[in-house]
Amino acid sequence: MSQDIKETVKEKYAEAALKVLGGEKGSCGPSGACGCDPITENLYDAAETSGLPEGAVLASLGCGNPTALADLHAGEVVLDLGSGGGIDVLLSAKRVGPTGKAYGLDMTDEMLALARANQAKAGVANVEFLKGEIENIPLPDASVDVIISNCVINLSVDKRRVLAEAFRVLQPGGRFAVSDVVCRGEVPDAVRRSMELWVGCIAGALEENEYQRLLAEAGFTDISVEPTRIYEFSDAGIDNVLAREISGRVMGAFIRARKPGLR
Ligand SMILES: C[S@@+](CC[C@H](N)C(=O)[O-])C[C@H]1O[C@@H](n2cnc3c(N)ncnc32)[C@H](O)[C@@H]1O
Repeated sequence: MSQDIKETVKEKYAEAALKVLGGEKGSCGPSGACGCDPITENLYDAAETSGLPEGAVLASLGCGNPTALADLHAGEVVLDLGSGGGIDVLLSAKRVGPTGKAYGLDMTDEMLALARANQAKAGVANVEFLKGEIENIPLPDASVDVIISNCVINLSVDKRRVLAEAFRVLQPGGRFAVSDVVCRGEVPDAVRRSMELWVGCIAGALEENEYQRLLAEAGFTDISVEPTRIYEFSDAGIDNVLAREISGRVMGAFIRARKPGLR
């Protein structure tokens, strides 16, 4: 089951990347059916995206704007888990400047090709896109100052492992500053079982208290989950009964935590 989910996620995001490479806007499922539109729309200010390649903006499939909320400083090393077309990596690279570095990590070849094409168009040198899984981050221990991510951890079938890996690669004192979909209270089984809602970032969403519990279990401190957008799915094309049941209980949130220790 978990391998099936991972392969389906890869296929869907490969399709999304190919759409963008063909000049269209990316989406994370059949149009409207995954509920992505209320999730991914209008996340960035025009001023922020004005200097970015069009392909990076069209490929944006996040649920927040982690670099706007994260406190990034010149010279820092940032890692974006599930970097997609690279929008948040390119924004981070600007913020950390030439003495810093922004890594993007993604498992989908087509997304990596798109991200690397966007990097070439943007002409930035302090960026590197890595192929790999967020459950096995291909970086050494204590090598990153800030972990960002935008609507990806919900897609993982092993969130405990992702958080343990995030903790491992962060330096002592390093920050976890992630946008993700979370839910409030129980989500009906029919939603949890829907592959379409899984790839659309809903079915795999953690309950907000569970997210905090798993972060604490991984070793993080100073944990908070702050809702940034609460979704009403009435016009998103999801089956009406399911939409009614989850409306107002699924949200985009900004999740912060810190690895203990001094930098
Ligand atoms: C919803 S998109 C978000 C992309 C990007 N963060 C953004 O804001 O546009 C999810 C991305 O995460 C990648 N992804 C999903 N699960 C992953 C995993 N387990 N390991 C690595 N990448 C993963 C997908 O290939 C896809 O590019």
